[in-house]
Amino acid sequence: MVRKNEFFGIALVAVLFLWLLVYSQRETNFHRPIRYQQFDLGESFRSHTNITVPLRDIIDHQRINIRNELYNYKFGPNKILQNYTLETKGRPERNIIITTWRSGSTFLGDVMNSVPGNFYHYEPLLNYGIVQIRGAPQSKLALQTIKSLLNCDYTNLDDYLLYGKAHSYLFSHNTRLWNQCELHPQYCWNSTFLNQMCSLFPFQSMKTVRLRLWLAEEILRDKSLNVKVVLLVRDPRGTMQSRKHRNWCPGEPDCDQPNNLCADMISDYSAAIILKRKYPQRFRAIRYEDLSLNPFEYVKSLFKFFGLQFHENVKMFLDSHTRMNYGGVSSTFRDSKSAPFHWKMDLNATEIQYIEENCYEAMKLWGYVRSKNYSDLKDFNTLTNYTIK
Ligand SMILES: *[C@@H]1O[C@H](CO)[C@@H](O)[C@H](O)[C@H]1NC(C)=O
Ligand SMILES: *[C@@H]1O[C@H](CO)[C@@H](O)[C@H](O)[C@H]1NC(C)=O
Ligand SMILES: *[C@@H]1O[C@H](CO)[C@@H](O)[C@H](O)[C@H]1NC(C)=O
Ligand SMILES: *[C@@H]1O[C@H](CO)[C@@H](O)[C@H](O)[C@H]1NC(C)=O
Ligand SMILES: *[C@@H]1O[C@H](CO)[C@@H](O)[C@H](O)[C@H]1NC(C)=O
Ligand SMILES: *[C@@H]1O[C@H](CO)[C@@H](O)[C@H](O)[C@H]1NC(C)=O
Repeated sequence: MVRKNEFFGIALVAVLFLWLLVYSQRETNFHRPIRYQQFDLGESFRSHTNITVPLRDIIDHQRINIRNELYNYKFGPNKILQNYTLETKGRPERNIIITTWRSGSTFLGDVMNSVPGNFYHYEPLLNYGIVQIRGAPQSKLALQTIKSLLNCDYTNLDDYLLYGKAHSYLFSHNTRLWNQCELHPQYCWNSTFLNQMCSLFPFQSMKTVRLRLWLAEEILRDKSLNVKVVLLVRDPRGTMQSRKHRNWCPGEPDCDQPNNLCADMISDYSAAIILKRKYPQRFRAIRYEDLSLNPFEYVKSLFKFFGLQFHENVKMFLDSHTRMNYGGVSSTFRDSKSAPFHWKMDLNATEIQYIEENCYEAMKLWGYVRSKNYSDLKDFNTLTNYTIK
């Protein structure tokens, strides 16, 4: 009898302990970036043997991962997963963000990657360094690289892959690919592997900070790609303030000179007018500040434009990334309502004045208000309306 009671006592404690464990896991997971449960073939193989997993098995397992991840996803009318994947001759939803350094694209890029079944081409032009691509001759190869990636064709991207091998953040933002890279590093930069991996995914997103907007028309014009393009714009005072804190920016004129930034903003505005007229269903411009002040509404409307479901994973991502300040400078965990306006505290009057003098036209076009009293910025509303005719 005593034994029996002891047994039940221990069992009860164990159950309580397990429940607490599960509960605490749920609590902590809530604030972390979403990580996906993956079928882990490599681990079990590697711990027992030293043989390489055949490429085909990795691809087969990734295909299952994607199907599992999308079990409750609502595709377009009369469509199924196979209508979207290149391996079944379908057409993926392809969405591109065009912007410049420190304009909020890390955040928006991660929002787009939070939808299940997404393959994230992060900064395809990383190997160009801290420069803007404004036209020929660099634009030819740059656009070729972008198109190859959107077609999941890594065959002739040796420079891109070589750069990535030494700078893994080229791939690490692409969380679903990166999971496989960590399990099977021998394949990570292999074009055969990448062609097959990429072709499994129904959605592709891309963001680039180095390509000016007018060049993107060549990608929009390609009907077979059917891409959607979003231009992401930010107040130059916020952009310049944020760049000040990057060690790779000072001394690079495309990055540390407000007149270069604002000349690009003017050129992007002219391009936006043309693209909006030619591709009203596939081009949009947004401001980082508007997105940050109203993230749920904005992202919901963006996802509709992208042809993506505003899935519960996306809502979860927004919930955990827009309400508090959290982590270091590059963290996307922050209070989204104050982050865009941090420059008011960090820049002094001389710096603000210098940026505003160089950005008069760009700020007017994009609806950013100049300061009137440099010693009293706190309650000054920096935003007004803008129109793209
Ligand atoms: C396992 O493979 C690695 C790389 O091919 C090799 O360096 C290592 O010696 C192998 N280990 C065993 C136990 O065979
Ligand atoms: C989706 O794919 C199926 C099977 O391949 C095909 O019959 C159907 O027409 C496709 N739907 C659309 C909307 O393209
Ligand atoms: C990539 O992997 C395939 C399949 O294992 C292999 O045949 C090919 O030689 C690899 N390519 C390179 C460049 O390593
Ligand atoms: C403003 O900041 C700049 C750069 O940090 C500095 O060189 C300058 O002396 C500051 N000016 C004033 C008036 O504090
Ligand atoms: C600027 O703001 C300060 C602090 O509120 C105030 O004392 C000063 O009079 C203002 N200057 C002008 C020109 O409005
Ligand atoms: C901007 O436009 C909206 C709707 O057209 C209007 O409600 C709002 O008052 C305008 N804001 C400013 C600052 O003009």
